[in-house]
Amino acid sequence: MRDAGAIAPSAIHAARGILPLSAEGLVLRMAGQTLIDIARLTIDEGGPTMVMGPNGAGKSILLRLLHGLIEPDAGRILWAGQPARAGIRLRQAMVFQRPVLLRRSVAANIDYALKVNGVPRVRRPAAVARALALGGLEPQARQPARTLSGGEQQRLALVRALAVEPEILFLDEPTASLDPAATAAIERLIADAAARGTKIVMVTHDPGQARRLGAEVVFMHRGRIAEHTDADAFFRQPGSREARAFLAGELVL
Ligand SMILES: Nc1ncnc2c1ncn2[C@@H]1O[C@H](COP(=O)(O)OP(=O)(O)OP(=O)(O)O)[C@@H](O)[C@H]1O
Ligand SMILES: [Mg+2]
Repeated sequence: MRDAGAIAPSAIHAARGILPLSAEGLVLRMAGQTLIDIARLTIDEGGPTMVMGPNGAGKSILLRLLHGLIEPDAGRILWAGQPARAGIRLRQAMVFQRPVLLRRSVAANIDYALKVNGVPRVRRPAAVARALALGGLEPQARQPARTLSGGEQQRLALVRALAVEPEILFLDEPTASLDPAATAAIERLIADAAARGTKIVMVTHDPGQARRLGAEVVFMHRGRIAEHTDADAFFRQPGSREARAFLAGELVL
């Protein structure tokens, strides 16, 4: 993969300012269980926010709620103090734990995302080429996206999301099935996007990755926020018993 510095800064989204993102009294229940119960969470501008916690803690569901894909049973999500209005969704992007790719070529997947985000046709070929280069996916450009390997699919999903230059990018374990070299390359893409001002909210199980990329950590346990702290403080001395056990490699239920 090429250096992420190759992304040309462009003004797809000239207007900024949908942060902070805040959740108030957020509750989600399914099948008689409370899956999310968060009194308050505020995610502001700044370095990447890493969402950590054991399997089933509610990390993926929280991202979907914040992204506006699921309606909570109670509570609300505010962007810069306002309920999500039309257009907010276009200023955020999400890469799912299992990439969702369209039944078309790799290049067409990127082109379609740009089109939906209002990038004019004349500017799309160059933006597609840039994204393919960033993901190291030039040889696969014409291949049906769904025939890519798992790691290639994750790379495509990430560069497609970055191509639209979102103001906030939700990433759900974006390197879970990548080899070490591809993981390092993806981390570089994420760090570069963050350095250019994209707010990253990312789920990871990898403490090393969270240390490398994170400015702060949201630690979830059983649908609640057990801890929301500065990354340095979190790794030096986690405040919650659950996080201490998690970092010590113990099974946290
Ligand atoms: N539609 C549903 N109905 C009932 N329970 C659900 C539903 N969707 C998710 N859950 C449950 O909600 C809990 C949280 O799920 P979620 O996918 O957010 O976990 P996670 O923290 O992302 O875990 P992982 O680290 O394994 O990805 C899990 O126990 C899951 O089984
Ligand atoms: Mg998950």
